[in-house]
Amino acid sequence: MNDSQSKAPMLEIRDIKRDYHVPGGFMKKEKTVHAVKGVSFKLETGKTLAIVGESGCGKSTLARILTFIDEPTAGELLIDGQRVDTRPGHLTSEMRRKVQIVFQNPYGSLNPRQKIGDVLGEPLAINTSLSSAERRDRAMEMLVKVGLGPEHYNRYPHMFSGGQRQRIAIARALMLNPKLLVLDEPVSALDLSVQAQVLNLLTDLQEEFGLTYVFISHDLSVVRYLADEVMVMYFGEAVEYGSREEVFSNPRHEYTRTLFAATPRADVASIRARLAKKAVG
Ligand SMILES: Nc1ncnc2c1ncn2[C@@H]1O[C@H](COP(=O)(O)OP(=O)(O)O)[C@@H](O)[C@H]1O
Ligand SMILES: [Mg+2]
Repeated sequence: MNDSQSKAPMLEIRDIKRDYHVPGGFMKKEKTVHAVKGVSFKLETGKTLAIVGESGCGKSTLARILTFIDEPTAGELLIDGQRVDTRPGHLTSEMRRKVQIVFQNPYGSLNPRQKIGDVLGEPLAINTSLSSAERRDRAMEMLVKVGLGPEHYNRYPHMFSGGQRQRIAIARALMLNPKLLVLDEPVSALDLSVQAQVLNLLTDLQEEFGLTYVFISHDLSVVRYLADEVMVMYFGEAVEYGSREEVFSNPRHEYTRTLFAATPRADVASIRARLAKKAVG
């Protein structure tokens, strides 16, 4: 590795944009949705960037671009100092392995007919030449790392709780030793007490494997707990971006102040309801 590479951020995006063309219905024109309108940031190895914002502001679109599921309309994506060619067929398997995603809904993201051992072994079977015995060993090891055990290897997803399923999704994401995890609302569907356990697991794993996280959330208490840097998105734009301390102590944008003025478990719908009540009462 040369000097310029060793100093490069793990992840950098420059002016990323994503438009969607939504077909019009009867007598209606095609519409363009500007889901992400030119977002840039740099993220150093081992750090966590939290992306916050209400439903529809473009967080998941950005998550899909960062994990190569979707292509940007414009802009540049650099991983580990290397510019990524995101066009279909141009992405290297090495690049694909470096970045993994965990979705909000562990029910939807696990195949109900697949035993957990196979869920974890599959990325290895597709991407490595490990024998089935080696794949089994790696899967068993990873189950322990995420707080489950070898006894879970032969069970099916429906036999697990929501929190356990999210642990399985995290284990699957880690099977190929990625460097960057994009976590799209990974605890939003879980009960509060379970959320805390999964967040603790994520911070432990980050330290153990030196992982870099992009953590998407609409919950400020969660963001305050684990972010090094915070970006606030509003209608496809980054209206706020800085260290956790900067953003929390000195929010610049009106929208961020509204977000922060709310209860510790900020939920934009409830902020709006509160504001509406104030306006009436
Ligand atoms: N595949 C798609 N086709 C058309 N519009 C989309 C698509 N995906 C997202 N959008 C639109 O892009 C905007 C951002 O959505 P999304 O990234 O899912 O926001 P968030 O994750 O912050 O809730 C929304 O207006 C949404 O309706
Ligand atoms: Mg989303």
